[in-house]
Amino acid sequence: MGGAALEVRDLVVGYGPVRALRAVSLEVPEGSVVTVLGGNGAGKSTLLRAISRALSFHGGAVTGGTVHFGGRPLHSLPPDRVVAAGVSQVPEGRQVFARMTVDDNLRAGALGSRGDRPAKAAALRRVRELFPVLAERSGQRAGLLSGGEQQMLAVGRALMASPRLLLLDEPSLGLAPLMAARIADTIREINSQGTSVLLVEQNAALALRLASYAYVLEVGEITLSGPADELAASDEVRRRYLGVVDEDAAADASQADTTHPVLSRWEG
Ligand SMILES: Nc1ncnc2c1ncn2[C@@H]1O[C@H](COP(=O)(O)OP(=O)(O)O)[C@@H](O)[C@H]1O
Ligand SMILES: [Mg+2]
Repeated sequence: MGGAALEVRDLVVGYGPVRALRAVSLEVPEGSVVTVLGGNGAGKSTLLRAISRALSFHGGAVTGGTVHFGGRPLHSLPPDRVVAAGVSQVPEGRQVFARMTVDDNLRAGALGSRGDRPAKAAALRRVRELFPVLAERSGQRAGLLSGGEQQMLAVGRALMASPRLLLLDEPSLGLAPLMAARIADTIREINSQGTSVLLVEQNAALALRLASYAYVLEVGEITLSGPADELAASDEVRRRYLGVVDEDAAADASQADTTHPVLSRWEG
């Protein structure tokens, strides 16, 4: 395990009386892309909020377990110290500051990072190389960008803090296939530049192409995990998560629906 690995152990999270995660454990080795697949309400956003310490802003709390990054406990840090510890989150729904310019959105992403001025300038160059459209539109209001461009801005803003680990919450959601594929290419490039990625997705086909290791989250519990290529090749995952239909699967379908109510709602 490398020096900047993420280790989540037996994480328990609740929103008041509602238990959203039960004893979730996972690892993101340094330099890797790891994905957590799950349908609506599985607990994917909750997991990322627990890691980034943003749960309290949503009325939730960690009630058990630990989160370590590079051997340091993240679970005891105040939320505003997580970015400085090297972990940045892109929240779901590509939240940009619509009335602020593209550049001001990016500058906001550098707040809280430990980088000095040259580090921030280098981060801005990297973001503009990854997303040339953000350089072209630097003075425009973010609200005028297309959905795909806003997702690029949300990712770019998180990269402004030069994170060692990027937490991505369903970056492909609501994007046309071509735009989703471009975002996927960029995630691959960000990773090849040395940033680890924890990607939560409903889009299993896209996520399994990007990740080396995958976990399946169902109603707050990890039910399946393994190397991404093995999961992508397994009949069970192909049938339930990748929409591959064969005759056996058709025969089993009604049974699968009753034993896995969440998976039957899968929209992959
Ligand atoms: N702010 C919140 N307050 C109360 N319950 C919540 C809140 N956010 C999520 N939940 C509940 O926690 C569970 C997991 O939700 P979430 O993490 O958003 O799932 P996902 O991101 O996989 O769709 C769901 O049952 C959801 O209703
Ligand atoms: Mg979510």
